[in-house]
Amino acid sequence: MQKNREQWNSKIGFILAASGSAIGLGNIWKFPYIAGENGGAAFIFIYLICIAIIGLPVLIGEILLGRTTQRNPVGAFRKLSNSSFWASIGGLGVLAGFIILSFYTVVAGWSLGYIFEAISGVFYDFNKIESAGIHFQTLTNNVTWIVGFTAAFLLLTMAIVYAGVQKGIERGSKIMMPLLFVILIILMIKGLTMPGAEKGVAFLLEPNWDNVTGETVLLALGHAFFTLSLGMGAMMTYGSYMKQSNSIMSSSLQIIFLDTIIALIAGVAIFTAVFATGQNPSEGPGLIFLTLPVVFTKMTGGYIFSILFFLLLSIAALTSSISLLEVVIAYFVDEKKWDRKKAVLIFGGVTFLVALPSALSFNLIKDVTFFGLNYFDIADYLASNILLPFGGLFISIFIAWIWGFDKVFIELKKGSESLFEKHIWVINAWKVFIKYFAPVLIFLVLLSKLGILDVIFK
Ligand code: PHE
Repeated sequence: MQKNREQWNSKIGFILAASGSAIGLGNIWKFPYIAGENGGAAFIFIYLICIAIIGLPVLIGEILLGRTTQRNPVGAFRKLSNSSFWASIGGLGVLAGFIILSFYTVVAGWSLGYIFEAISGVFYDFNKIESAGIHFQTLTNNVTWIVGFTAAFLLLTMAIVYAGVQKGIERGSKIMMPLLFVILIILMIKGLTMPGAEKGVAFLLEPNWDNVTGETVLLALGHAFFTLSLGMGAMMTYGSYMKQSNSIMSSSLQIIFLDTIIALIAGVAIFTAVFATGQNPSEGPGLIFLTLPVVFTKMTGGYIFSILFFLLLSIAALTSSISLLEVVIAYFVDEKKWDRKKAVLIFGGVTFLVALPSALSFNLIKDVTFFGLNYFDIADYLASNILLPFGGLFISIFIAWIWGFDKVFIELKKGSESLFEKHIWVINAWKVFIKYFAPVLIFLVLLSKLGILDVIFK
């Protein structure tokens, strides 16, 4: 074992950091609009099933790989398999970290910028979504604005990772996560007490199965990976700083619970307000940056709520982006023996360079497209729809078919002894899910994402 490798100071520190990674733009920006576009409650129902039967088993597996090996994804696979093929699967995770960061920091930068827009009161000029749309376009067309806020957000991310696992990530999560919970609950109460809120609640609770297609199921599964930070080693890396005495089973349940409940609360807060002010719930990716500013102008206290909302979104994004950067940094610190601070400065800079084309995809290089997608879209598509499910597939195959359950159980039992003694069925159920359900279902999703199923079933 490496000397002086950092560890979380407390179990709650790990839970908050890992749920901070999970809770991000995925919960507050993506989840509500995907649910909005895909039948509301029906989508949510399918998504919850995906979380339970694939998300939870893979999350347990990822944390287990990290805690057992106390390594970054490349080192973890190498240590357990001694094979360069598996090490390169870990390497794909490090690569995915860069790719996700490259578009994530741009959207997070908008969110940061929108805190200032909210403070300036400019939203009061919008009474229709069209004017909010024009404003959004003006901002994202402005190279200085978009690159500036992307860089500012990246610097915040770097500062936290630079300070280290305990002093940076753990301490930051312990401050930011409670703040995030409080703001979100305030926003939910506001939404629920607006006249007409019940239509928003109904939208989230009454399933409309007409809108559900095969594509919906795939979307739900892909989103389950993204929202739980699975498939690229973020949870593995965070698990690698965990003490052997902490239970992986109970920690994973808590992380999943927090991630899911936050997505649902965000959905309630957003849709109650959207319906109460008579706006359209299926605006797509613009729901947050176009629809909500209009919603805020139509509610009492909208000025304060708009500032709180974009603060919430920025905090959520920050606790996730630090986990993305940490995967890259852990790799260079563990494998290449770099100093953490040097690694952060250099790879923060590299991240900026890969994020730059994402930011410029909205202005200077808007017309540079590949199959109709610009750089930003490609980065998002490649990471969320291909690399993460691919990573998840290999993680479950590795655990179930390569590592061997006799060894897996020895490791999993640490910290969860009473579960093994009293409720062994839970462990056996996990075994079935990670061995069969997860790999088969993910494989099908991957095939369909690559368009192969369409060809076969045409
Ligand atoms: N889970 C984060 C979110 O929901 C995104 C993320 C994906 C973070 C993969 C780390 C790794 O926003």
